[in-house]
Amino acid sequence: MIKVNNIVKIYNPKSSNAFEALHGVSTQINDGEMVAIMGKSGAGKSTLLHILACIDNYQDGEYYINDTLVKNLSEREYARIRNEKIGMVMQDFALVEDFTALENVLIPLNFSKQKVKNKKEKALAALKSVGIEELAKKPCSKLSGGQKQRVAIARAIVNEPAMILADEPTGALDTKTSAEIMELFTSLNDKGHTVIIVTHDPLVAEQCHRIIELSDGNIVS
Ligand SMILES: Nc1ncnc2c1ncn2[C@@H]1O[C@H](COP(=O)(O)OP(=O)(O)OP(=O)(O)O)[C@@H](O)[C@H]1O
Ligand SMILES: [Mg+2]
Repeated sequence: MIKVNNIVKIYNPKSSNAFEALHGVSTQINDGEMVAIMGKSGAGKSTLLHILACIDNYQDGEYYINDTLVKNLSEREYARIRNEKIGMVMQDFALVEDFTALENVLIPLNFSKQKVKNKKEKALAALKSVGIEELAKKPCSKLSGGQKQRVAIARAIVNEPAMILADEPTGALDTKTSAEIMELFTSLNDKGHTVIIVTHDPLVAEQCHRIIELSDGNIVS
């Protein structure tokens, strides 16, 4: 279970262009839930997701993963939590364009502290589960938007994280590919992963159990 209590996020704190993007957000997401985060552009969706994914900090409030307070940790501790518990699909994919699909999916395995047996097999299995095993050796710069999206998802799930967070995973996709990607998230959720998806698309949101709506840095419903 994850829980946020009165989270305040200020970009550029202490500077003249300080900007408060989250004004005290509280919510709870249970293990095994599939939740959509919606709201207008600039509402703070990515900001909240980045905090939940332990890739950004916050100024006030508390964030708990199970009973662990995730606040003011060292970069090393954040990295460990990300690697063990979290799979993140970024809004812009954040793939290494010069790397092949397989090399991108190997990245989290290579960072992992544990000894990962058969890294390559694991990475190939992740690519297979998103339906693009045959593209393993292709550089990401030569893939289509939908294919890149799948590589980003394969990379997010390769460590079998408890939580999968995705920022607009279908934003750049046609209706058919978007439906296929949603099937993928639903099947991951059926296997027990908690799934949190930021989306503008009502068709995506209606496949989730619950919608958290953000407006101007506040949860409104
Ligand atoms: N690095 C940053 N520095 C300063 N302000 C930022 C930064 N990142 C985001 N913001 C501001 O915080 C607010 C929330 O941004 P955020 O990216 O969370 O919005 P969003 O809901 O994800 O929007 P979109 O739907 O366009 O992706 C916006 O007003 C944005 O301009
Ligand atoms: Mg965003």
